[in-house]
Amino acid sequence: MILALETSCDETAAAICTLDGRILSSRLFSQIEIHRQFGGVVPEVASRNHITKVRPLVDAVLQEAGIALSDVAAFAATCGPGLVSSLLIGTSMAKALAVAEKKPFLAINHMEAHLLSPFVGRGGIEPALGLIVSGGHTMLVNIEAVGRYYLMGHTRDDAAGECLDKVARMLGLPYPGGPEIEKAARGGDPGFVKFPRSRFADAPLDFSYSGLKTSVLYELPKLDLKADGVMANLCASVQEAVIDPLLDKAVLAARATGRQLIAVSGGVSCNKRLREKFFERCEQEGLFGIFAPPHLCTDNAGMVAFTAAHRFNSGHRSPIEQEVDPNWSVA
Ligand code: KG4
Ligand code: ZN
Repeated sequence: MILALETSCDETAAAICTLDGRILSSRLFSQIEIHRQFGGVVPEVASRNHITKVRPLVDAVLQEAGIALSDVAAFAATCGPGLVSSLLIGTSMAKALAVAEKKPFLAINHMEAHLLSPFVGRGGIEPALGLIVSGGHTMLVNIEAVGRYYLMGHTRDDAAGECLDKVARMLGLPYPGGPEIEKAARGGDPGFVKFPRSRFADAPLDFSYSGLKTSVLYELPKLDLKADGVMANLCASVQEAVIDPLLDKAVLAARATGRQLIAVSGGVSCNKRLREKFFERCEQEGLFGIFAPPHLCTDNAGMVAFTAAHRFNSGHRSPIEQEVDPNWSVA
């Protein structure tokens, strides 16, 4: 069994996973309500809450999995990327447990955990084209095997989720904006405003989302958001402009690598419109899209425990001196 902690941002999470990758328990304390009043995550508030929530969560997952600390083969924690003051809490707790129990410690990369999350329940990590769409990252990764990841494209400015969060804020919708825009977009016309899709001639697999945010800003004075259907139409148009480049570039990258499997992960991959369009497009292109269940898409410790189990099985161990790294890249 692996016990893993995730405290890279504003979710305090713990999980237990068997060494063959079955998640027995995954619990989370979401600080969203606490940070909502500030319109985004306040790092010091996040770390103070991690401190009070992490230990009770460890007890809760042990109890739910029906195991004792002594049954745990290794303790894992997200060591980056993320907020330093938040990463330190989960990492310190996992290291302390490892030392006390005389068991190995595993430092896990948060992006690797997202990347592998669509493979939960599939029996192994297959070669695939990975697409991570989260609040901080948008990237295409060629997955050869556990630990062998090659970056194919990434965002040059804002991440897809970050763009949704910023646009939502402009529209007066609460944080986090992605699910709010999805809700507001229901029944809306995605062709209402034709927002630009940016392209880089020299890097067709790179993304850019800061222009979309600016386009919305210019569009706003022309619209009466209170008029019937306008808010839904605008949100549907923004959502479409975020999703379309993801589909196009994922297919392009799959073709370039010869991968038939596209593994989509990260908070934005909860989005139902994104999933529908992905499945539709994959079918047209003769590709196969896989997603994690929504509770494993947004930040959670289940994906960290799952990744740690794969890492542990391939002989990976981290020194207890391992530092957290706010910019740790996965590929
Ligand atoms: O992966 P995640 O939980 O945290 C990071 O590692 O960043 O992703 C959070 C992002 C936020 O930007 C949030 O607005 C977005 O995922 N998100 C969504 C949905 N649920 C969460 N975006 C679109 N549709 C959703 N249903
Ligand atoms: Zn994340």
